Amino acid sequence: MTNRSPNRVLIFDTTLRDGEQSPGATMTHDEKLEIAGLLDEMGVDIIEAGFPIASEGDFNAVKEIAERAQNAVICGLARANTNDIDRCWEAVKHAKNPRIHTFIGTSPLHRAIPNLNQDEMAERIHATVTHARNLCDNVQWSPMDATRTEDDYLCRVIEIAIKAGATTINIPDTVGYTAPRESADLIRLLIERVPGADEVVFATHCHNDLGMATANSLAAVEAGARQVECTINGLGERAGNTALEEVVMALKVRNDIMPFGTGIDATKIMNISRRVASVSGFPVQFNKAIVGKNAFAHESGIHQDGMLKNAETFEIMRPEDVGLTETNIVMGKHSGRAALRSKLSDLGYDLGDNQLRDVFVRFKALADRKKEIYDDDLVALMRDTGGGEERLQIKFLRVICGTEAPQSADLTMTIDGEDRQTTATGDGPVDAAFNAVKQLFPHEAKLQLYQVHAVTEGTDAQATVSVRMEEEGRIVNGQSADTDTVVASAKAYVAALNRLIVRREKTGSDTPEISYKDVS
Ligand code: KIV
Ligand code: ZN
Repeated sequence: MTNRSPNRVLIFDTTLRDGEQSPGATMTHDEKLEIAGLLDEMGVDIIEAGFPIASEGDFNAVKEIAERAQNAVICGLARANTNDIDRCWEAVKHAKNPRIHTFIGTSPLHRAIPNLNQDEMAERIHATVTHARNLCDNVQWSPMDATRTEDDYLCRVIEIAIKAGATTINIPDTVGYTAPRESADLIRLLIERVPGADEVVFATHCHNDLGMATANSLAAVEAGARQVECTINGLGERAGNTALEEVVMALKVRNDIMPFGTGIDATKIMNISRRVASVSGFPVQFNKAIVGKNAFAHESGIHQDGMLKNAETFEIMRPEDVGLTETNIVMGKHSGRAALRSKLSDLGYDLGDNQLRDVFVRFKALADRKKEIYDDDLVALMRDTGGGEERLQIKFLRVICGTEAPQSADLTMTIDGEDRQTTATGDGPVDAAFNAVKQLFPHEAKLQLYQVHAVTEGTDAQATVSVRMEEEGRIVNGQSADTDTVVASAKAYVAALNRLIVRREKTGSDTPEISYKDVS
């Protein structure tokens, strides 16, 4: 046991594992390294960097994150078998502080999948946790679907895992089924009943299917859990996981009734939230607690009046507490490269010279079309996933619109360095543009999502477009921003196709990707 203060809550971030596993949220290798770096910098105690057995790509990302981490414990996920555990160890062992996280579904429904009875499963748990502990001093064990597992059986298997050497016991509410009082009661029961419970850290891992993930996590902390598992922006499958920023700020703002602390530098929250939204392709809802665009906006007259007299009238935390800088009109046509670098740095983007050169060209092009460039415009510019060394690039697009269908699009694309031209029609300008792209680059991928947001107000506002596509189980996102919605749409579509090409090359056409939900 460490000499950590009894009220210190460890933050275990699983954005790169449970978050990234959410369909469509796939990140590239470099994006994972960047997010891991930001998590490490902001004071996350444990980073779950991925699921090393899932693919070569996952393995390499976990390994490199492990090699680079300065402070955080680096953890990898493994199912309850020696192959998974060995592979996980191969990836995390490079960290200063490695951890193996192994799990098996213990509820009646989950026991039925590998067709193990209670005794057989207990034996498997003993064997696999022992194996993990022989490799690594720091072992986390999770009974998946713990909140729907019989209490007696849960106590029995946790005792086995502790005796086999687990140092952290995580209690997942895998399907987001529990409620705050029940979440607290379960942690309390386990701490009271399981022999050896005082030798380990209990963790809470909640999903947000009923919108109670944060409340359930906080209730578990009050009952004795000292590790909260969470993701940035609550990213995760279905309704997502517990949101890191909500737990951290709830413990800060209501420390009077929840006297627990974390090691997180909350002023880094906004920056990482933006980066995760950008690389995952999951935008943050406007009214999301802490990090939503409207979280600190006071529109109504009564609120604005109160805020001017005394900010505390309507504000329980200050925007700067979470790293939100003032959104003013900042840049324009005459702003230079140094000003852009400095502004982007305030927004959390520290760019190298090459990157800055590329962004500056796009910034100038935007400034030619839009007089006032706001912070949000710059964030949108940074979210643009196209350009650079991509195999497919849009060179020219002109769409003819009118009240009479069909609309038509003239398109020139550079494909592997060669210019190709076509004209296509469609049911609306976006459809025509997409059809033109498909004529030049035929594919079978299905469009799963097409979303348009206006970044700022005014008719010259930029539109950010997100596109999600699926081909043989591979899901990819593309994003783009432009003052012309059709151009942004076509660029986002092409950005998604570029990602698809990369994914095809990585996985091959007949290599299915392994999910941690596959039978253990
Ligand atoms: O939700 C869950 O049960 C999980 C486990 C793998 C810990 O993510
Ligand atoms: Zn989970």
